[in-house]
Amino acid sequence: MSDNELNLKAKEAASRAYAPYSNFRVGCALITTSGNIYTGCNVENASYGLTICAERNAIANAINEEGIIEIAKLVVYTPTPNPTPPCGACRQVIHEFGDPEIMSYCDGSQSKKHSSSELLPHAFKLKNS
Ligand code: THU
Repeated sequence: MSDNELNLKAKEAASRAYAPYSNFRVGCALITTSGNIYTGCNVENASYGLTICAERNAIANAINEEGIIEIAKLVVYTPTPNPTPPCGACRQVIHEFGDPEIMSYCDGSQSKKHSSSELLPHAFKLKNS
């Protein structure tokens, strides 16, 4: 699947976001190394801190279907004029499942491409051996 098709899937997921508090509808589409595609949107809560980001929901969906996954590529769509890479919490969760290419798309024509390790250098690991 092309980057553009993955972006369309992320955008579609964003349309399903539950974001009544921020009105900021985010979508994510990821492809695992086994070739399957999963999506997620952000789900907010009246108790703001319980909000779950689109990226972490996509990862939870993938694990729910496949078990342990390795993420090959992840696309995030934000409703912004400029590309907005994932938040810090999501970077740590993405890092748990590989060192994928992370592509950030938006409503503008630009997109950004980073590796996960580029976005989260010196990542926390429980066992640092
Ligand atoms: N959000 C995401 O879904 N992904 C991110 O990487 C950053 C932020 C969501 C959380 C919240 O619902 C809204 O965007 C505003 O922060």
